[in-house]
Amino acid sequence: MRRKLAAGNWKMNGTQASLAMLEKLASDHRDSPCDIAVCVPSYLLIPAAATTATGPVRIGAQDCHAAPKGAYTGDIAAGMIADAAASYVIVGHSERRDAYGETDALVRAKAEAAQAAQLTAIVCIGESLAQREAGEALPIIGSQLAGSVPDDSTGDNLVVAYEPIWAIGTGKIPTLEQIAEVHSALREALVARFGAAGNDIRLLYGGSVKPENAADIFATSDVDGALVGGASLKAEDFSPIITALA
Ligand code: G3H
Repeated sequence: MRRKLAAGNWKMNGTQASLAMLEKLASDHRDSPCDIAVCVPSYLLIPAAATTATGPVRIGAQDCHAAPKGAYTGDIAAGMIADAAASYVIVGHSERRDAYGETDALVRAKAEAAQAAQLTAIVCIGESLAQREAGEALPIIGSQLAGSVPDDSTGDNLVVAYEPIWAIGTGKIPTLEQIAEVHSALREALVARFGAAGNDIRLLYGGSVKPENAADIFATSDVDGALVGGASLKAEDFSPIITALA
C-alpha cells in the first residue's frame, strides 16, 4: 500500500519568518495518515526548517549536485542535505531542465546521488504544451522516466512527479482523464522495469494544484499525492490540500 504524499515546493520563496507555517502544518495534521514534505530554498532554510518541522512534516531540498563533494562552487551535495536533516530532494524540475539545460542523464545522476545519501528523490517529468498538442505527451514522458530514474529505485527512495509544464503556475490543469492516462502509463512503465516493486513507487501530480481542485485530482486513479508550488506557500492553502489527500 503506497502512503500518500503531499509535497510543497516553495521554489525561491520564503524567509525564516515563513517557517512558522511548518508548526501550523504539524499541528493541523498531527494524526494525518499521509506523508507531508516541504521543499524549502535549500541553502538557507533547511537546517532551521528541519528543527521547526515536527510530527508528520519532513523537509526537502529543491536540487542537489550529482557529485558527493568537490570543486563545484555554489553547489550543494545530497549528503550535505541529508546532514542538515532533510529527507527529500526534488531533481529534474522543469524550471531547472529549462533554465540550466538539465538532461535526463544529469537528473538521473542527481537522483542516484540523492538515493546514495539516503534521501528520497522526487524526480520530475512532464511535457510542454507544444508536445501535448502534437500528441507526443506519452512518448516524451516515457522517455524522461526511462532516462531520469535510477536502476536502484524503490518505493522508499523514489517518488515520480508528473508535472505538465503548461500547468505549472498557470491555473490550468489537464483533464482528469489526461492525468489518469499519464499516471497509468507511468505505473505500467515502472512495473515493466522494476517488477512488482514498481507498484510501491509513488506518483504525484503537480501543476496548479489548489484547495479547489485537489479532491478531484486525488480521486484520480494512480495519483498518490501532489507536488504543490504556489499553494504550498501559505498554511491556509496547503493545509486543505493535505486534508483532501487524507
Ligand atoms: O513543483 C511544483 C510545481 O512546479 C507546481 O507549481 O503549483 O505553482 O503550479 P504550481
